[in-house]
Amino acid sequence: MGSFAKQEHKGSHSADVSAELLFAIASNDPVSGHTHNFYRYPARFSPLFVREVIRQYSRPGETVLDPFMGGGTAIVEALALGRKVIGVDLNTLAHFVSTVKTTPLSNYDVEVLEEWLADVQDVGRRGIGEADQPVRNLPRHLQKTWADLMAQVEWLPLERQQNFVRCVLLKTGQWAIDCKELIPSGADTLKQFANHFHEMIQGVEEFVGTCRMEGIKKSKIRQNRLLLCRSTAGLESESRLATVSKPTLVVTSPPYPAVHILYHRWQVQGRRETPAPYWLTAFQYEMARSSLSLYSLVSGFSSFAPISSSLASYSVDSCPRYPRYTSPFPELGPLLKRAALLVRG
Ligand SMILES: C[S@@+](CC[C@H](N)C(=O)[O-])C[C@H]1O[C@@H](n2cnc3c(N)ncnc32)[C@H](O)[C@@H]1O
Repeated sequence: MGSFAKQEHKGSHSADVSAELLFAIASNDPVSGHTHNFYRYPARFSPLFVREVIRQYSRPGETVLDPFMGGGTAIVEALALGRKVIGVDLNTLAHFVSTVKTTPLSNYDVEVLEEWLADVQDVGRRGIGEADQPVRNLPRHLQKTWADLMAQVEWLPLERQQNFVRCVLLKTGQWAIDCKELIPSGADTLKQFANHFHEMIQGVEEFVGTCRMEGIKKSKIRQNRLLLCRSTAGLESESRLATVSKPTLVVTSPPYPAVHILYHRWQVQGRRETPAPYWLTAFQYEMARSSLSLYSLVSGFSSFAPISSSLASYSVDSCPRYPRYTSPFPELGPLLKRAALLVRG
């Protein structure tokens, strides 16, 4: 663990790190549960660690902020613990994944989705696709399978249903392509797509069930989250924050200066990189250029404790090819590697 600043929670917790938290920090358990495995977002948190931190340093009904939410580990865990959440990320892929992971499906949605899958499998068996354009940047033998699947997403009536299926495509694409030497056949990919589909429906149900036990009804989950696709720089003047209560806890794993992480591309057969995650989720391939001031973020919420001044500011420069994180304070690199910042107001 790199940097870990904490304050006592209104006298109700000891200033020592608890045994439960130490256990969670040391745990090497694979990521599992709820909707966490909808997508393997790079550099993601351990849900166990995040859960314990949120449980110990905030109360049900309070608001937790993750200003660099990535794949939404903290967002999912906070909601599942009955907290409200604010999540921010400038990467459209991060915003997409976090949104789908925390969007409940109705019984009607599940019915429509199951019927859709049965039709798709039938089409797959007959080998009749609907796509008129092949997809780009994928191994040649998979292009038709993907193009057909993507064309059929459009048949789903509701956006949340379409997004759910796009997320299944994303997960299956990562399984089939990212960092793989041996790429599966179209038929195996379709089979895995169906497995992921069912696993993910169960994941949503598990997540919704836990939220319910912690006091958030299915119909209220969306009202308890505010997910913003924007830079964290200047967040303090974001008008949409006026609609939610002030966060009392920030739990985040920030971008790591000078460390090259492929947040938004997959590696195909160990060589080429593809922006496939973007067009699979129907987004333009773009990332905003941004400059980040952690200090301005923290000072924007007057109730937050100031964090170490040496962490005060660093800039994040993302470009369309891949994000390049440059730090005006090179000494921050080692300090921030694998760091979790915890600021309690
Ligand atoms: C280490 S990842 C967070 C992973 C996350 N904790 C999880 O469990 O998936 C850091 C995130 O910061 C985002 N990011 C980088 N610069 C940003 C900025 N200026 N504003 C908002 N998000 C930014 C990146 O897109 C990336 O998703």
